[in-house]
Amino acid sequence: MVLHIDVDRLVRRLDELGELGAVEGPNGERGCARLALTDDDRAGRDLVVTWMRDLGLVVEIDEIGNVFATRPGTDPGLAPVMTGSHIDTVRTGGRFDGNLGVLAGLEAIETLITAGVETRRGLTVAFFTDEEGARFPPDMLGSLVYVGGMPIEAALDVCAVDDGARLGDELARIGYAGPRPVPGDRFPHAFVELHIEQGPILEDEGITIGVVEGVQGISWTELTLTGRSAHAGTTPMRLRRDALLAAARITDGVRRIADDLGGDQVATVGRLEPHPNLVNVVAQSVTMTVDLRNTSESVLRDAEARFATLVDEVADAERVTVERRTLARFEPVEFDAGMVDRVEAAARALGHSTRRMPSGAGHDAQMLARVCPTAMIFTPSIDGLSHNIAEDTHPSDIAAGADTLLHVLLDCAQME
Ligand code: GLV
Ligand code: MN
Ligand code: MN
Repeated sequence: MVLHIDVDRLVRRLDELGELGAVEGPNGERGCARLALTDDDRAGRDLVVTWMRDLGLVVEIDEIGNVFATRPGTDPGLAPVMTGSHIDTVRTGGRFDGNLGVLAGLEAIETLITAGVETRRGLTVAFFTDEEGARFPPDMLGSLVYVGGMPIEAALDVCAVDDGARLGDELARIGYAGPRPVPGDRFPHAFVELHIEQGPILEDEGITIGVVEGVQGISWTELTLTGRSAHAGTTPMRLRRDALLAAARITDGVRRIADDLGGDQVATVGRLEPHPNLVNVVAQSVTMTVDLRNTSESVLRDAEARFATLVDEVADAERVTVERRTLARFEPVEFDAGMVDRVEAAARALGHSTRRMPSGAGHDAQMLARVCPTAMIFTPSIDGLSHNIAEDTHPSDIAAGADTLLHVLLDCAQME
C-alpha cells in the first residue's frame, strides 16, 4: 500500500500558523506578516517547536536560531536526511511561502510515525532563520551561516532595515539564540525542500509538480543618493540637486536594463525612502534597493555592469552623490542530478505530472547545496502570486507536493 500524508492535518496546521501575524486584505484575503525575529516570529517558532516536541522529535537550536527536529533512524551511525524551509515572511506575505516546506516535513514524519515505518537514516525537519532577508539582509541568512558561508559574528551584527535593531539582540530577545555551534559540523546526507512555485508556470501548463533543477543568481544593492534639500517654490530648476528625481531615473533605467537584456532577466526597485518626504521640499536624500536576478552568471554580471554605469550617469547628470552597499550576492546554483532524478521519479510514481524548471526565488536549499546533495519540489501557486497576501495553493496540490516529499525522504533515508 502506498503511504500518503494527511492533507487535512497539514492544512489545519498551515491555517493555525498563518493566524500568527495574520493580515487581512480588502477582499477578505488572509495573508501573513511575520518578519524575522519579531514577536510574531517568536510565536510562530514556539508553535512549530511545540508540534515538533509533541511528536517526540529531538529539537536542537543553533547559534543563529535555526531549529532542527530529528526522528532518529535505525542506524545511528548514519547522517540523517534533512528537509525544511523557513517560517519568516515578508510584510505582505502569504501562508505558504516557506511554511509549507516546514509543515509538510513535519507531516511526512508524523505519517511515518503513525504508520510505524522506521527508516535507516534519521529524518530531520528544519526551519532556518531569516530566509526572506526582508528585515535583515541578506536573504537565506540562517542557512548561509549554517553552511559556513557567513561568520556568526558578522550575522549577529546585521542591523534591521526597518528599525535598526541588531540581529543578535533580537535573536536573544525572542529566546532563540541556541547552543548548537555554527557552521554545522554534522551536515545531512541529503536535503530536499518542498516550496510553492511562487510563479505562474505550473498553473499555466496544468502541471502538478515542479522538479527544480537549480536557483537563479541574486544581486541586491542598496543605494543612498544625496542631493540638497531646497524650497519647492523658490528654487529654480537649474539649481536643484534632487535626490528623488535621480532615484526615479534609476528606477526607470533598471527596468530598461531588464527589457534590453530580455530572456529571464528580472530587475526590481522594491524599497525607496526619500528624505524628508514632504510636499514642498526638494528631496535631500533617497535610500533605495535594486534586486537583479538571472539563471546565467555571465548575464547577471552584464546586468550589474549596466546598472553601475546607469548609476554613475544619473549621479553625474543630477549632481547627487552615491553610496553603494551590497546586501546580497549569490551565484546561480545547480542541484545534484541524482537528487533531481529522485524527485522526478517519486512524483511520477505517485501519478503526478512533472516539469523540470529553475527557481526564480531564493531558497534555503541553495545554501544546503553547498554541503550535501540537494533538490527541491515545487507545487503550483494560484495566479502565480507570492509575496502577496492573496498567495494560495489548492489542497490537492499541497497533498501532491507533500506526498512527493514523503516518498523522496523515504527513498533517501534508505540510502547507503
Ligand atoms: C527570498 O526568498 C527571495 O527570493 O527574495
Ligand atoms: Mn520562501
Ligand atoms: Mn519569500
